[in-house]
Amino acid sequence: MDSKSTIDPTATTVAQQLGNLPVMTAEVQAAIERLNRKGFIPLHQVQIAHDWLEGKRQSRQSGRVVGESRTGKTMACDAYRLRNKPQQVAGKPPTVPVIYIQIPQECGAKELFGVILGHLKYQVTKGTIAEMRDRTLRVMKGCQVEMLIIDEADRFKPKTFAEVRDIFDNLQISVILVGTDRLDAVIKRDEQVYNRFRACYRFGKLSGEDFERTVKIWEQQVLRLPTPSNLTGKTIIKTLGEATGGYIGLMDMILREAAIRSLKKGLAKIDLQTLKEVAEEYK
Ligand SMILES: Nc1ncnc2c1ncn2[C@@H]1O[C@H](COP(=O)(O)OP(=O)(O)O)[C@@H](O)[C@H]1O
Ligand SMILES: [Mg+2]
Repeated sequence: MDSKSTIDPTATTVAQQLGNLPVMTAEVQAAIERLNRKGFIPLHQVQIAHDWLEGKRQSRQSGRVVGESRTGKTMACDAYRLRNKPQQVAGKPPTVPVIYIQIPQECGAKELFGVILGHLKYQVTKGTIAEMRDRTLRVMKGCQVEMLIIDEADRFKPKTFAEVRDIFDNLQISVILVGTDRLDAVIKRDEQVYNRFRACYRFGKLSGEDFERTVKIWEQQVLRLPTPSNLTGKTIIKTLGEATGGYIGLMDMILREAAIRSLKKGLAKIDLQTLKEVAEEYK
């Protein structure tokens, strides 16, 4: 039998012809590692979203958070959960004020209960839907949950929305559905569901001054290259605006990649040429 570890002779030849990959200095390597690590930036729009969520939690009202993909919904909602840390007192169930979950594709009632119990670190036991519903409600009550944030709520099977509505009615907690306009369309089909999730917070694309301000924050707090790239200069900001369409997710991706590529070229900052190269790939 062929051993998988045997090096393919053509690969060796190719490697010899091309030579070794250029060696990077330790500094550049460290900078690249840093640029590959994702971090959370407490942006102004995140603060506003958190204030909105805080209001909903305090008044135990439900609603939805809607926006296109890559506008920062998940990062903002997960950070809100982190600001509402669980508390544990020995011998008692933990207090979990905010649950944040992401649900699987085609999510039905059982899967929903499973994800909630898992998040609260309770064992998911098998049983009928009624048994699982009972257990989930009991556990949520025990943990004194005040808000349930359900991300990717577009993935619910249409009839599971009734189940979510019942959680809200039963526990009198705030339930927040997070998703795209697809979610909006489904919710609006059922008057009863729509009425409970009427309040809506929207995440949008960045434009104008907001976009410029965010790029500046990225340059100073995320990229932190040896020399400033002056990313808000006229030509660069225009290129960035066109390439990202104002989506924060794309801006983050393109800027990180451009920074890494510039460093590998031996530059101390992002130059327009490199930015254009990267932008071209994301078209
Ligand atoms: N507050 C933030 N701090 C840092 N990066 C962010 C922030 N918000 C969004 N991003 C970047 O944008 C990407 C997309 O954000 P995400 O929250 O997943 O969007 P959505 O859930 O709307 O699709 C993230 O992976 C991250 O790179
Ligand atoms: Mg998301």
